Amino acid sequence: MPDPRARLIVALDLPSVAEAEAMVSRLGDAVAFYKIGYQLGFAGGLAFAETLIGRGKQVFIDMKLHDIGNTVAQGVKSIARLGATFLTVHAYPQTMHAAVDARAGSKLQILAVTVLTSYDDADLAAAGYDFTVPELVAERAAQARDIGIDGLVCSAEEAESVRAVVGGGMVLVTPGIRPAVAEADDQKRIMTPSDAIAAGADYLVVGRPVIAAADPKAAAEAIVKEIAAAR
Ligand code: C5P
Repeated sequence: MPDPRARLIVALDLPSVAEAEAMVSRLGDAVAFYKIGYQLGFAGGLAFAETLIGRGKQVFIDMKLHDIGNTVAQGVKSIARLGATFLTVHAYPQTMHAAVDARAGSKLQILAVTVLTSYDDADLAAAGYDFTVPELVAERAAQARDIGIDGLVCSAEEAESVRAVVGGGMVLVTPGIRPAVAEADDQKRIMTPSDAIAAGADYLVVGRPVIAAADPKAAAEAIVKEIAAAR
């Protein structure tokens, strides 16, 4: 496992590059890994990702790709050229095959999203699936493993059962992390950093508990300390 600081991924869920730049400079050496999603990505964040990479930071592009294979492959190649470390795709076999093939020869690792954590069994039924959430998560995790996907995004609550399906060869990245003292915000299934590590998470994605804290750097340092102490 990388050092504890490298296991914290701070979600730059901010509306502009200027605000992201200010946050990154406040966080300084406390944070080595950033996640850029729709909000910042579609507001100049992809160019900013390159800037961060040029400064030695690692970047997770959370764009949850899903399209015909050729389109996914070309998108993955562009993200690989940026120098990103992680990119998310939805866990559909055709999409996963295309992404894995297209990242070959780069340092980019593909993470699959099994079932969005906002979905429950009723949402799956409404979308036409005859599976419960745990059944579909396990099925897609096994497919991701067989296709050669590098890792999975899952809730910390799912981490233990997903780890049992995929074994030790894939990275597990878990959002929905709340240090014991933080507010839950709109996350329904939350875990502390120590519990998530104990459940088998390799990397923790944390947004608001860091970027909305009165002292973001102190908040990040406290989480890294908790990661370091966890088993
Ligand atoms: O602010 P908070 O810590 O809740 O941010 C969590 C981050 O992880 C957000 O960027 C959110 O989009 C992302 N995420 C999540 N649940 C998932 C996948 C990604 O909360 N299942």
